[in-house]
Amino acid sequence: MDLRIKGDLALVVGASDGIGAATAKLLAEEGARVTVVSRNAADLAEAAAAIGARAIAADITDPAAVEALHRAWSAQDDRLDILVVAVGGSHRSAFEHLTDEDWRANWEFNILSTVRVVRAFLPQLRKAPGARVVLFGAASSRMPYPEQIVSNVHKAGHLALVKTLSAELIGEGIRVNAVLPGRTVTRLWRRRAEAMAQQEGTTPEAVLARFAKDIPLGRFGTAEEVADLAGFLASPRSAYIVGQSIAADGGIARGLL
Ligand SMILES: NC(=O)c1ccc[n+]([C@@H]2O[C@H](COP(=O)([O-])OP(=O)(O)OC[C@H]3O[C@@H](n4cnc5c(N)ncnc54)[C@H](OP(=O)(O)O)[C@@H]3O)[C@@H](O)[C@H]2O)c1
Repeated sequence: MDLRIKGDLALVVGASDGIGAATAKLLAEEGARVTVVSRNAADLAEAAAAIGARAIAADITDPAAVEALHRAWSAQDDRLDILVVAVGGSHRSAFEHLTDEDWRANWEFNILSTVRVVRAFLPQLRKAPGARVVLFGAASSRMPYPEQIVSNVHKAGHLALVKTLSAELIGEGIRVNAVLPGRTVTRLWRRRAEAMAQQEGTTPEAVLARFAKDIPLGRFGTAEEVADLAGFLASPRSAYIVGQSIAADGGIARGLL
């Protein structure tokens, strides 16, 4: 499917690895002019070079870094057609062991950092005819996982963020939607599987195989499979989809909604 995004200006945040990187690659292959953002400048430069993108290193949990990112972007480009923010993650801990700081840090990671980036780029999104914003919740936005109360709360709040933000911006022609990935093999899961394997005296592959058993499709997703949905939502091909959080999760979230 031609996504009809040739020449569109795209900013993908969280794009040196994982789902963000796969989304940036897809957008670049479809002819968008892509800028990628993440913290580690060396990893980012490598990821950008691989897809012919521009790189701007920034930590979006830091307000000053988001301002600097916005300044760097604005020095070269005036409008923004596609904004993708693929930063966030789960926090595994029983409720009683979580500190206020754990709650605040995960809020920053999953919600406030995304809010900050969207807010900073609103003037540029307004200048694009029919801009698209694609954010990332998780299967846990709809189906809380045991022992992940802090990220369950914030990923559920992400549904409200997407719906409310969408309602505010659609009148200006800016479409906001989100992808809800299930268990997807990225750095996030590779690291988790390695840590659990060490604790349990087993292999990361055995850990991943155990977690795959809960997935109706019987396997983890790939970053590319999730990026296919993100790319569609980032394109005019999804023109009638507004304010939705859509799963690409192998069926793991079993609720009706
Ligand atoms: N993988 C899964 O199973 C899964 C499941 C459900 C939901 N999700 C959601 O999908 C999204 C992407 O996840 P992923 O698995 O692809 O993550 P990932 O593999 O850990 O990649 C995260 C990317 O974001 C960058 N990043 C992290 N923190 C950042 C920050 N503060 N500022 C700027 N860039 C930052 C990382 O590079 P640096 O470290 O160099 O900054 C990296 O490029 C997240 O919102 C996550 O919650 C993933």
